[in-house]
Amino acid sequence: MTNLLGINDFDKNQLVDLLRLAKEFKNQPTIPNHALNGKIVAMLFFEPSTRTRLSFESAVLRLGGQVIGFADAATSSTAKGESLEDTIKIVSGYADMIVMRHPETGAAQRAAAVSIVPIINAGDGSREHPTQTLLDIFTIADERSGRSSELNPDRLENLRVAFAGDLKFGRTVHSLSLGLRHFNPTYYFVSPPNLKLPDEFKKSFDEHRINYQEMTDFTQLPADINVLYMTRIQKERFDDIKEYEALKNMYQLNQVTSQLFNSDCLFMHPLPRVTEIDPQVDADPRAVYFKQARNGLFVRMAILTSIKY
Ligand code: NCD
Repeated sequence: MTNLLGINDFDKNQLVDLLRLAKEFKNQPTIPNHALNGKIVAMLFFEPSTRTRLSFESAVLRLGGQVIGFADAATSSTAKGESLEDTIKIVSGYADMIVMRHPETGAAQRAAAVSIVPIINAGDGSREHPTQTLLDIFTIADERSGRSSELNPDRLENLRVAFAGDLKFGRTVHSLSLGLRHFNPTYYFVSPPNLKLPDEFKKSFDEHRINYQEMTDFTQLPADINVLYMTRIQKERFDDIKEYEALKNMYQLNQVTSQLFNSDCLFMHPLPRVTEIDPQVDADPRAVYFKQARNGLFVRMAILTSIKY
């Protein structure tokens, strides 16, 4: 793998190999590893981030590498009007790899076209977020593998997965629904009518003969879903803030609605959450979103060691 731009860059075997490697890192988190010794990784975050940036930075440091970059484009020459292409040409002369988040769809591809070092897409607008998907799939496999120290990828097969919230702008949903296609899923997409999953993703499910249903009412979901993937309404992508205000509290997982689902359903969220999951749900054994965020470290260590310089 030279770049990681979208989740379709992985075939099923590569994906499963990466999950297994992440599990090795998780089993031995403190064992020194020097895979990135002498390497410099640039973190270019043109959009806000906590988990993605800090888990990537931590992963680089744990692998013996070093980090440069910025967490806010306002402190970079972007604020002076520099193009993305020029910034990438410059930084790719200073670093061995670039992890980039950008508000524009397709920015990762544009960066890869001019970079002389590998580009990892840490979220490009509302399009994709492939490293989040790898940690999401890892979390599902890990939680469903019980106490075993080995990951059982068969536990990813034939799952019923529900996605709720902003399916139009939510890049984590886009990448995860593509990434799970290797495992014969059945999907339920719950959103307000104006935040439905874009057609291009549904076309891809049709091509891969994946069953899916769309609905607007959260309470109509079947009780026996295996995963409930909640998402934040993506305020920053709305042109009209009034439209956001009208939709922001549409779905809420709380102590009442959580009763709708069976005891083995995983409650997931890429975080940050706003109002869509009541903190009272955090103590529920089905709530795995904080474990999911922690898994980001091990999965990103696996990604960083799988990239070819
Ligand atoms: C997500 C993102 O940036 O797309 N956050 C993350 O990386 N964990 C989800 C979101 O911001 O809602």
